[in-house]
Amino acid sequence: MNKIRLHNGILMPQLGLGTFLVQDGNVAYETTLHALNVGYRHIDTAQMYQNEASIGQAIKDSGIPREEIFITTKQRGHSTKKKMREQFESSLAKLQTSYVDLYLIHWPNHDKKINQQTWSLFEELYKEGKVKAIGVSNFQRHHIEDLMETATIKPMVNQVELHPGLSQVPLQAYLTREGIALESYGPLMKGGVFEGIWAEGLAKIAEKHQATIAQIIIAWGLARQIIMIPKSVTPSRIEENFNGKDIKLSEEEILTINALNRGKRVYTDPDNSPWGPYAE
Ligand SMILES: NC(=O)c1ccc[n+]([C@@H]2O[C@H](COP(=O)([O-])OP(=O)(O)OC[C@H]3O[C@@H](n4cnc5c(N)ncnc54)[C@H](OP(=O)(O)O)[C@@H]3O)[C@@H](O)[C@H]2O)c1
Repeated sequence: MNKIRLHNGILMPQLGLGTFLVQDGNVAYETTLHALNVGYRHIDTAQMYQNEASIGQAIKDSGIPREEIFITTKQRGHSTKKKMREQFESSLAKLQTSYVDLYLIHWPNHDKKINQQTWSLFEELYKEGKVKAIGVSNFQRHHIEDLMETATIKPMVNQVELHPGLSQVPLQAYLTREGIALESYGPLMKGGVFEGIWAEGLAKIAEKHQATIAQIIIAWGLARQIIMIPKSVTPSRIEENFNGKDIKLSEEEILTINALNRGKRVYTDPDNSPWGPYAE
């Protein structure tokens, strides 16, 4: 499994399992266990997903040493440092671990001072060794620039909506210059990649590689040095998605998929989210 070296030297497996909407209990437990058996060594969860406990149990029961598995979780919302620290400690307890590999601010607040305060807690947790890497999610370039006004540590990762309908080429160019790794979420566009212009464009490439559309998207992201975390609770799809890592696309094919970009969001626009007060 290829790994991305984050700017602090930590190695992050480039392909992982997404777990948004993976129900806590048996589904999250069996899904995680199956993915680990298939070979995944990177699980993406969040406090908001409310499935950390089942994922933690599956990781423990897998018998795979903790240090061989990369766990990402995300701060559920901005609050006082005290409250956020309690939420972080609760994640550790649920995941049955003494550290997480990557901790992300799940969404930016509209008020940059709030983001800056949350980030200062993240820096504390990092310095205390409770997180191996810290990053952000759903941050546009301007959110990162605002964060850096007071930050002493640059985010190591930015996880954003990214798929053939929203290829994020300009954001990737900026992040690459800054040494921040780019992580994709929603790679299948909530099923949109199986319809319309996306299905047409991707099916031709898939046929050539005797692969599925999902696998071609995963291969496209990996070739662009993007961290990919497709979600599935279906055992055969968990395997199918994992095998996407073995497909090598040509430069021309990568550019063809980039050109399917329509600036299309299937998730919330971070600049217009309903969460938090708007800055004046
Ligand atoms: N940071 C954020 O704000 C944020 C937001 C959204 C997501 N995420 C993360 O990113 C991960 C991935 O994004 P996502 O969950 O939105 O969506 P996704 O991975 O793009 O798509 C998941 C959907 O596609 C189906 N699917 C999976 N593999 C397939 C395949 N090979 N063929 C056909 N259908 C397939 C799944 O169905 P089944 O499960 O029924 O198989 C599910 O309905 C999340 O799980 C989460 O970890 C982060």
